[in-house]
Amino acid sequence: MKKIAIAGFGTVGGGIAHLLRDNQKVLADNAGENISLGAILVRTMKADSEFAHLMTTDFTTIEQDEDICLVAEAIGGVDVPFEIACRTLKAGKGFVTANKALVAEKGHILHALAKEHNVPFLFEAAVGGGMPIIRPIRTSLSSTGINYVYGILNATSNFILSEMDKGNTYDQAVKEAQARGYAEADPSADVDGIDSARKLAIILAMITGKKTSPDDIRTVGITALKDTCGGRVKLLARAAVKDDGVHAEVSPVLVDEDSLMTCVKSDRNGIVVRGEGSVETAYFGVGAGAIPTASAVLSDVVEAIRRPVYSDECAWGAEELKVLPWTDSELAEYRS
Ligand code: NDP
Ligand code: HSE
Repeated sequence: MKKIAIAGFGTVGGGIAHLLRDNQKVLADNAGENISLGAILVRTMKADSEFAHLMTTDFTTIEQDEDICLVAEAIGGVDVPFEIACRTLKAGKGFVTANKALVAEKGHILHALAKEHNVPFLFEAAVGGGMPIIRPIRTSLSSTGINYVYGILNATSNFILSEMDKGNTYDQAVKEAQARGYAEADPSADVDGIDSARKLAIILAMITGKKTSPDDIRTVGITALKDTCGGRVKLLARAAVKDDGVHAEVSPVLVDEDSLMTCVKSDRNGIVVRGEGSVETAYFGVGAGAIPTASAVLSDVVEAIRRPVYSDECAWGAEELKVLPWTDSELAEYRS
């Protein structure tokens, strides 16, 4: 029996607790051991929850509980999760997270700490929610130099564009995305493209081994869009890896009618990864929401229990990747 803790009990944290309760057998079969929930770190106690007896507002009790082997973080923001991550790893426990702001900003430090303490640090849910992309890059594509990626990495903005295409207003669509639990605490991170830029930065850090600052990625959101052109305008994250840096951008793009991205609608995410030679792969899935995201978090929990050590596939260091502006000819060359 392996005991884990959850930090944060909102959309994603609640999803993790429910999926862990409901999928005991599948999880045990895949992890090779039963997994139980030992504690939940909350900011405010939720007395009505069926999990109330596991809740604590004091992280020290989790940190010092030798039976808890891992913390799954779903709080959001950077400072509090970073402190929790550092304390978790230093306590010799694995750390898995859905938090792309944390991974994009502090991933290089957390990799180093996880390596020092030889414990897992995993973040499949941080990019694409329920769509697998971190593990394919870490493992399936490990023999291929990746030179171009493009895709839809934000469910909220994609959902809003799809709703506008159906004739609903932008404001109605934002409210619905919030009600469904897709949007960030501050949804401007979604609609202004910042969330997509963070996810692209994580992918680029994994590909290049260098830290990529999301702030260096030219980012344009969807707030000024008046027309979705029959569902063909998509908020795309794109990057072409070069010897001297990377061209990277997040912006609304009129995609080709036969683009794979045209089919990525509503809360779905999709990404195409082009490697050297003619290796081209594509990934699709539900990009946000409690259960899809929890399933990605728990896939990391299963991996961490099966392999309770640090693995440096696609780790990155503190060296900064140079982000280069796109030229018009390159934009034309890299069709989406
Ligand atoms: P929510 O706002 O729904 O949940 C966050 C929870 O964290 C809240 O319950 C909040 O408590 C709690 N919290 C805040 N501060 C603390 C603290 N100091 N100690 C303990 N708990 C705290 O966010 P989400 O679940 O939507 O997102 C969580 C993370 O997952 C974010 O990093 C997000 O980017 C990421 N993510 C979200 C997805 C989604 O579909 N929603 C998909 C993929 C990733 P309180 O209830 O008191 O406010
Ligand atoms: N707010 C994010 C989105 C959550 O809409 O894609 C998933 O990362």
